[in-house]
Amino acid sequence: MSSKIRLGILGGGGDSLIGVLHRVASAMYDQYQIVGGVFNPIWKENIGFVENIGLPTNRVYKDFDTLIEEELKLPETKRMQVVSILTPNFLHFPMAKKLLENGFNVICEKPMTTSYEEAKILENTLQKAGTIFAVTYTYTGYPMVRQMREMIANGVIGKVQKIDSQYYQGWINPIIHDKEKRANIWRLNPEKGGISCCIGDIGTHAFDMIEYITQLKVNRVLADLNYVYSDNKMDVDGTVLIRCSNNAKGVIRTSQIATGEENSFTVQIYGEKAGLKWEQENPNYLYLLEDGKPLRVLKPGHPYNSELSLDGTKLPPGHPEGIFDSMGNIYKGIAKAIKKEPYNQGEFPTITDGVRGMNFIERVVESHQNGNVWINLDE
Ligand SMILES: NC(=O)c1ccc[n+]([C@@H]2O[C@H](COP(=O)([O-])OP(=O)(O)OC[C@H]3O[C@@H](n4cnc5c(N)ncnc54)[C@H](O)[C@@H]3O)[C@@H](O)[C@H]2O)c1
Repeated sequence: MSSKIRLGILGGGGDSLIGVLHRVASAMYDQYQIVGGVFNPIWKENIGFVENIGLPTNRVYKDFDTLIEEELKLPETKRMQVVSILTPNFLHFPMAKKLLENGFNVICEKPMTTSYEEAKILENTLQKAGTIFAVTYTYTGYPMVRQMREMIANGVIGKVQKIDSQYYQGWINPIIHDKEKRANIWRLNPEKGGISCCIGDIGTHAFDMIEYITQLKVNRVLADLNYVYSDNKMDVDGTVLIRCSNNAKGVIRTSQIATGEENSFTVQIYGEKAGLKWEQENPNYLYLLEDGKPLRVLKPGHPYNSELSLDGTKLPPGHPEGIFDSMGNIYKGIAKAIKKEPYNQGEFPTITDGVRGMNFIERVVESHQNGNVWINLDE
């Protein structure tokens, strides 16, 4: 019998953005086998997609409740061990909760839920379930992001004193000025997306990245969001001032109306001794800045990198690896946890990161709505 982890997938069908990333990532280190799921709520699309990509169809279910019912009839040795939730945001909470209550391990897309309250309930449910729960903040899987985390932990840049993260996209610009187009995007519908679009969709990545890399807590926020039109209920741009647990100050700058931008996610951390800069669109270069010294550029796969970073590189230096590999590294870490093998805490984001992300989104929206005031995040 195959020793691969039996993976089920919810959402991520042929019409989706993120599905292919998870499918490729799960196959990358030969750890998982996709055994079924619900890829689309419309049966014809669901089954048609699975036939098209050549996966077995016997465990493709008509809906989520049927998946749970039928999987529970199977012996544990055949049942899905982990289920990835890749649906629009509003379905994450009910699906994750029921999966946990029935003993499944869960991989959940971000934002983890649509409210902080739901996130806390899920945390509670997980405590009782005792299974593995991962939240796919994809970018934390990049080797040079992992390297940044380790360098900061090892004191290479000294005490962190300034943080700047930008996440600029432009894809909503052609949509936001057209009422009809706006109405067809789930990310701009509060019932499907939650209370925020820009901060929920990409601001959370920047927030999580800062906490992942620095291992500091962001404990205060002051936000100024932009909705562009008064009848648009979801932010599409926002700037957030942050204060961290060591009193470092910083800024998270996010936009989905930064015309012409693609996925310009950057993070810059400056310490008393040095600075580190990383850009998602050029992920294999990590810049080390020091007073009075030439700029140094670190790259993946070299022995000067940390074990955590090297664990995420598959090929010799000079063979560029990207977003698929980053997600692959996260899936690899989750596989170790499911198999009860030792792993580094930095290998995949957990429910704690998911809960913090939801706390961040809600406090940011609250800060903006209360007239751009400082608001504390929970510990
Ligand atoms: N980690 C990242 O960097 C990243 C990037 C993009 C999207 N995401 C997240 O992934 C999730 C999906 O985003 P997307 O852009 O792929 O959305 P999408 O709209 O492109 O795809 C959603 C998929 O879910 C399916 N679906 C909808 N309702 C369903 C149901 N009831 N049962 C089963 N399947 C259902 C749709 O048919 C579709 O295949 C969101 O939560 C989003 O925030 C994360």
